[in-house]
Amino acid sequence: MLDQLHQLPADPILGLAAMARADSRADKVDLTVGIYMDEAGVCPVFKAVRDAQGLLAQEETTKAYLPPAGVEGFNQGMQKLLLGADHRALLDGRVSSVQAPGGCGALRIGAEIIHAATPGATVWVSDPTWPVHIPLLGSVGLQFANYRYYDPASHGVNFEGMVEDLKGAGAGDVVLLHGCCHNPCGADLSLEQWSVVADMAEAQGFLPFIDIAYQGLGDGLDDDAAGLRLLAGRLPELIVAASCSKNMGLYRERTGAAMFICRDQQNAQALVSQALVAARRIYSMPPAHGALIAGRILGDPVLDAAWRSELVEMCSRINGLRSDLRSKLEAASGRDFAFIEKEKGMFSFLGLSAEQAVKLREDYGVYMLNSSRINVAGVNAGNIDYLAESVAAVL
Ligand SMILES: Cc1ncc(COP(=O)(O)O)c(C=O)c1O
Repeated sequence: MLDQLHQLPADPILGLAAMARADSRADKVDLTVGIYMDEAGVCPVFKAVRDAQGLLAQEETTKAYLPPAGVEGFNQGMQKLLLGADHRALLDGRVSSVQAPGGCGALRIGAEIIHAATPGATVWVSDPTWPVHIPLLGSVGLQFANYRYYDPASHGVNFEGMVEDLKGAGAGDVVLLHGCCHNPCGADLSLEQWSVVADMAEAQGFLPFIDIAYQGLGDGLDDDAAGLRLLAGRLPELIVAASCSKNMGLYRERTGAAMFICRDQQNAQALVSQALVAARRIYSMPPAHGALIAGRILGDPVLDAAWRSELVEMCSRINGLRSDLRSKLEAASGRDFAFIEKEKGMFSFLGLSAEQAVKLREDYGVYMLNSSRINVAGVNAGNIDYLAESVAAVL
């Protein structure tokens, strides 16, 4: 029965990362996978996470299953982190959430809820979007349509094109939006543009589904959630998939939340019951470790303040790398790379062709996706000159 199953190709991003790891060149540069790396090229553990972990290790008395909705303190903490503690929707009690295995798990739970409400609903995704959105949502049975988003010529959002395309989204459709730090392009909507999206959702009746995996890595925790908060204040319904992988560095602990903003409290509770039935079909209970840590941090003023300041440091390092990279690339190539500084979060398209990206990989050991998406956080003082010179050499 099983020997008819053939070998599948590796995931394109993880496959490239494996190639980079296997490359023996001392000056290789790996800018493939979206994980934050420090100056030493290490994905660090937040000190606040270590401290919370230490406390938990002393206090933990059981490894019994979590309740199906996960750690209560984590769920409450995440709602406040995402919406702000005094958001009208929270005060009105029309918000609910469940813990999920990472942002991916939250996206999948959101997709299951959408499919339960409208089987085979169409989800409008940005062109381009994070490639994993397609299997994650599509395997549930949802359909896709694209809306224009990134304009390679201006390296910014083609908002006119986006609005024109989204005029085709109506009631029963879902519009997937990146909450901040768009993956892969780093180009985000302004607050005015979020407001136009809210107008369109109100007028046309589509449901926004916000994927927010990088809150705190663009302009800070509150600014990065401003679009989400605006929509939650204006619209009757919204689904959010949030991740603690990047902003708490809990990648491998699979820590995320699916949050529902609904017309009223009763509907918000109904959605939790739907989410739990969906989770039961897939993985039953969420994993405990990451959510206990995150819940502990969010619920403890001292740990929370320490975590926030570490995150601010991380965010300013990324923004500093953006300016440095812009200057070095401009100096090495004589071309304009100002866009790198305007983008948010960990990603940027350098604007190279696939042939140039492959040449960088093969001739220089500089690894980026064929689309020339780089993880800016993989740049450091030790590799930035070599990176800039290599890019200039293939241009
Ligand atoms: C846009 C986007 N959404 C969601 C996720 C999911 O993150 P995780 O499942 O690791 O929490 C990622 C991770 O890279 C992402 O880039």
